[in-house]
Amino acid sequence: MERKRTCYCGEFRLKHVGQCVTALGWVDRRRDLGNLIFVDLRDREGVVQVVAKPDSPSALQTADQLRPEYVVAVTGRVVQRSEATVNPEIATGSVEIEASEIHVLNTSATPPFPITDGSSTSEETRLRYRYLDLRRSRLQHNIRVRHQISLETRKFLDERGFVEIETPFLTKSTPEGARDYLVPSRLYRGHFYALPQSPQLFKQLLMISGFDRYFQIVRCFRDEDLRADRQPEFTQIDLEMSFPTMEDIFELVEELLVRLFRVAEIEVSRPFPRMTYSDAMNRYGTDRPDTRFGLEFVDVSAAFENTTFEVFQRLLADQKTPSSIKGLLLPGAGSYSRKEVQKLEDLVKLAGASGLAWIRNSSEGIRSSLPKSVAAEELRQAARLAKIGTNDLFLMVAGPSSVVHAALAALRLHLGREQNLIPETQFHFLWVYDFPLLEWDEKENRFFAAHHPFTSPLEEQLSLLETDPGQVKARAYDVVLNGLELGGGSIRIHQEDVQKGVFKALNLSPQEAESKFGFFLEALRYGAPPHGGIALGLDRLVMLLAGERSIRDVIAFPKTARAVDLMSDSPSPVSQEQLRELHIRVRE
Ligand code: AMO
Repeated sequence: MERKRTCYCGEFRLKHVGQCVTALGWVDRRRDLGNLIFVDLRDREGVVQVVAKPDSPSALQTADQLRPEYVVAVTGRVVQRSEATVNPEIATGSVEIEASEIHVLNTSATPPFPITDGSSTSEETRLRYRYLDLRRSRLQHNIRVRHQISLETRKFLDERGFVEIETPFLTKSTPEGARDYLVPSRLYRGHFYALPQSPQLFKQLLMISGFDRYFQIVRCFRDEDLRADRQPEFTQIDLEMSFPTMEDIFELVEELLVRLFRVAEIEVSRPFPRMTYSDAMNRYGTDRPDTRFGLEFVDVSAAFENTTFEVFQRLLADQKTPSSIKGLLLPGAGSYSRKEVQKLEDLVKLAGASGLAWIRNSSEGIRSSLPKSVAAEELRQAARLAKIGTNDLFLMVAGPSSVVHAALAALRLHLGREQNLIPETQFHFLWVYDFPLLEWDEKENRFFAAHHPFTSPLEEQLSLLETDPGQVKARAYDVVLNGLELGGGSIRIHQEDVQKGVFKALNLSPQEAESKFGFFLEALRYGAPPHGGIALGLDRLVMLLAGERSIRDVIAFPKTARAVDLMSDSPSPVSQEQLRELHIRVRE
């Protein structure tokens, strides 16, 4: 018999009282009071209480057999609950269904964990049974927020004249700094497709094709080390426009984000603050600072300019590696114990620093952990620069600036969390711009693109590409939210000679450039308009909107931090036959 539901379980209200209704759903809980059985019936909208009474013996009999996660159809009358039995915790709490018929549509094996939010089941088990985990209301909510965000993105960008265009998944690799996932070709022995790390070149080609405004909510694939905010496949809101200024893109993205936050009933104000890359590095030691709290770095290098303390002397005199002495001021932390400071020192050492020094300003004068060869006047000067008050603690790291920045950034975040300095419910956006175009890699002894090789240098610095490439700045920008890189983009190179110049600075020979990007260089010859764009991480955005700490909680079928799908057991070996067809032999 076909059964049509009256409404979702979670939608029953007082207005249904007196009606004969049908509800379909899963058994959430069953309570047996002997002559009365209560069943909480659950579906995606919530739960409704069903009661089976002796005056409907068959319903009572079936209710007796119900177990968690059985799928059932209940027909009955909606009644108002007595005042004493109203459940204010749930939306349907004023009513219940008095069952006249209960049909088991399917039984269920005992689930490996209870389907409730806040259960202590390991993530591993939950991922193994992801389809059950997804029955939890929290995950149902997250996945639907995700849907709303995608929908609103499409609406917004469509209103602004953006055209959604799909780009290929089987493609040639366009490196974005991560490893590619490769797909072997059956027809062409020894040839491979790469899954796109992003549709970067395709969206630029679409500008050359004259679409003017493109977007795509698109899956990207990167074989990189994973973290809570990284997955091997993830989704971008990717967009590109022709003839834009950086301001156009900032404005568009800010308006989009304001709209998307409204979906989650969060008001954010614009314009978003802006900060140059070097400012971000100097003040927070990272290009994605969490600006919800202060604790900015204080540079006290100047206090030690003429020091006789050899370590500082050598450091500050080093012409090759920019070095500095910087620290964080902890108001009221003057009484930190040796052990507490030691813990913080361990943390900065883990981040690469050689140690953590301190300065205190107590009633007995200025004290510090630095050796005696550091003059009292130098300490006083440092205390003045850092505005160290009585009972404050100033924690310092000295070394190459890159090390100092990384170590203090880790310390800042740790202290921010530990001392509850971070207002968790606030959203602080930030544009970071004026990035360097290239980054020097000590190990490989060559430059890498800081964003990707298609990013335009500042026009007025083009000539520096040949002479001092490390100094060239990029027309690139990141949008940062609460210390997370939410998106990144740039104005692109649209002239072939500039693109070749950047490839050269990246140490790519003309032959390599031709074999990797020849098709693209050729396309630039045919009237490529100036263009630029950005990509926002959809998973990260939804994670923040849903108040989650891991993007796995906003992706229906995520992989573990070891890039494994525990449910389907992937990656997995394939048959010899499949390998043979692909001309692949697995090395022992
Ligand atoms: P980018 O590499 O900065 O830029 O990526 C854009 C945004 O995508 C998100 N993201 C990720 N999210 C989850 N897991 C990952 N592994 C992952 N990697 C990146 C981040 C990031 O800010 N083609 C350029 C964009 C452009 O220039 O227009 C690009 O992909 O939120």
